[in-house]
Amino acid sequence: MKKPLMAGNWKMNKTVSEAVGLVKTLKNAVSDVMNIEILVCPAFTALYAVNNEIRGSNINLGAQNLFLEPKGAFTGEISPMMIKDIGCSYAIIGHSERRQYFFETNELVNKKAKAAFVATLVPIVCIGETLKEREDNVTFKVIEKQIRESLSGFTLEQSCSVVIAYEPVWAIGTGKNAYPEQVQEIHCFIRKIYEQMYGKNAADKVRVLYGGSVNPRNVSDLMKKPDIDGYLVGGASLEAESFTKLIRYFK
Ligand code: PGA
Repeated sequence: MKKPLMAGNWKMNKTVSEAVGLVKTLKNAVSDVMNIEILVCPAFTALYAVNNEIRGSNINLGAQNLFLEPKGAFTGEISPMMIKDIGCSYAIIGHSERRQYFFETNELVNKKAKAAFVATLVPIVCIGETLKEREDNVTFKVIEKQIRESLSGFTLEQSCSVVIAYEPVWAIGTGKNAYPEQVQEIHCFIRKIYEQMYGKNAADKVRVLYGGSVNPRNVSDLMKKPDIDGYLVGGASLEAESFTKLIRYFK
């Protein structure tokens, strides 16, 4: 049985004390939740303090990005080992904001995902089409290319443990979430392509999350679809109350 994953992407929000305050409230509110994996991804600056706060709890820690080299003269970058060392078990890779504002390509995303595995981090690889691509009817083509290029060259074990996050760019932070039918359709398609790459076992085992304006009001509709293994949540993970509500939908 796959354990659903509820991941909060805090993006460039929260000072250290705000981040600690949020996770402290969250920790108390969800301490009894065992059937799903809970993950928070604060900014780099808050990872250390948040890790201290969640030690021994059922909350896991993830980074929002990493650099692919293990160490060296890369001013301003953070290596996978540093992220592991600070207490993370996951790293979000290739979020659409990184693809859009920092020009990350499928090729780079793939290298970063592999670098994450070397440091024994689980990469959460993000894919998703833009509004223009959806309107131009090239969604499936774009998604297929992203899957084949961003998720290529994994070992069989890695292909099962990587997490894929489908996040249509037009749904991120816009309040306009994808219809459950649209999500289900793409998730099935992702598994189909993935099966061609790694076989049925990996396609069944890989967790595929949905992300894009998920909130406590629209999650119950999404939950009716069988092929969603969890959520990557931005805005609604910034408040303990709304994130707790989302987590509790799985109970
Ligand atoms: P959102 O962000 O929930 O605020 O739309 C999701 C994400 O970017 O991961």
